[in-house]
Amino acid sequence: MSPNQPSGLLKSDSSAWTSLQVDTYDFYLAQLCATNPVTVTQNLYSTDGQLLLAVGDLVTHNALLPLRSFTLVKPLSGCIHIQRLMNNADFLQHMVNIIRDTEFFQALEERKYPLESLRPVSEMLEQFPLVQQRLTVMAAQMNDLFQRTLSVGLWSIFIAQEMRLPIIETQMVFWAAICHDFGMMHIAPQILAKEEELTAEEWRSLQGHVEISRQILRDAAEFSEELINAVYEHHERSDGTGYPHGKVESEISLLGQILALADSIVGIYYNRFKPHGRRWREVIPVLELNRAAYLYRSCEIVSTMIFRSEIPLDNVVEGSEVPEFAERMLQQNAHLQQWFTELSSVLTGLGYTHGDRKLHSLQNVVLHIASTFKGSLLFKEDLRESLQSIASQQGIGINRVVEDALLRQQEMNFHLHRLTHMLQMYMGSGDCKNPKIAEKLDAGLQKIGGFLSPPTSQ
Ligand SMILES: [Fe+2]
Repeated sequence: MSPNQPSGLLKSDSSAWTSLQVDTYDFYLAQLCATNPVTVTQNLYSTDGQLLLAVGDLVTHNALLPLRSFTLVKPLSGCIHIQRLMNNADFLQHMVNIIRDTEFFQALEERKYPLESLRPVSEMLEQFPLVQQRLTVMAAQMNDLFQRTLSVGLWSIFIAQEMRLPIIETQMVFWAAICHDFGMMHIAPQILAKEEELTAEEWRSLQGHVEISRQILRDAAEFSEELINAVYEHHERSDGTGYPHGKVESEISLLGQILALADSIVGIYYNRFKPHGRRWREVIPVLELNRAAYLYRSCEIVSTMIFRSEIPLDNVVEGSEVPEFAERMLQQNAHLQQWFTELSSVLTGLGYTHGDRKLHSLQNVVLHIASTFKGSLLFKEDLRESLQSIASQQGIGINRVVEDALLRQQEMNFHLHRLTHMLQMYMGSGDCKNPKIAEKLDAGLQKIGGFLSPPTSQ
């Protein structure tokens, strides 16, 4: 490792942190304080001059409760010391643990990306006190987010290495990955834990985490604007369906695109496959169906990396179970087809001369889904025959075809869910200024909302 902080990671200017209320993150600090003392290092005043916390005070839950009605002159997180901060060795150990606990990362580490290549970049942690503090709190209070963050960091650095990016950019994308979801630590826990559908207001709040991450990093003055921008872009998608700005490919930085890809892979895996004991390999068909959303050649890059790990595959459907499986798939297909038809007719029926950028973006998503449908085998007339033919044959290769078909169907379901939510959010936001269009969309949503429940199995 270079003893000097590379210039590309340095920040060139600074701007003020704008959230000056005691918030969720401060209460995470108080929870941490119960086992790892958190003390105040600078007197903290309210904007009307009252001393709220003095040097040496412990940041306990009881100390914070009375402060909620005050506006602070500066954020509490900048005025504290944590007794045991995560250091370079701890951080490297966390990375080693996630590699050792994850068969896929272990295979990659053994075959292509040895730990020695990760050591220099992970040993930069102590140069970034803000990151040390945040990771210490995250590892203790939001461990699932911490594990995901490390996975995004590993994917980001592996993708950058696979693309043979210069070392400075590889380091930048790694640290952007480690910091990308710091904003999540300011989102209300009840929103993060909610299992039912989020309301439009809750979605807006959740999406606000990218702006919060950017503000945290700008305020800390530890990183360059290029790195911070990558963090800010991690939910943008090349086809314009991301947020906060709906940027398209040419508008998203290379580092932002790599981070978005890494974050998506980890999100798809953790949310949809890991809970069912399924493999990283299963993200490939999902990425293939969404190739327009990601970095050019991303599917090839990721597929190469996953196949290089050479992990043997499990069958998800055995030969004798395929006929029943085919029936379920056909039912689900009919459901998805009707859902898509309704969404498509509502959105394309509005025409394209309304001049509303957000509405155009929703209409683009419908077109994207239509082309994705076309490219999949899901809606071919002879699906049943295809599946029955598959059932009569033996061998893992055949079952992989079935497995991929199932994944594609799940992906379609995901797309239709997402577009329905985007439409609901658009209507809930009050951004639709054309009453005739609003009336049509309202009527359409009445019908479309019913498709959010899966078809009942017979
Ligand atoms: Fe995020």
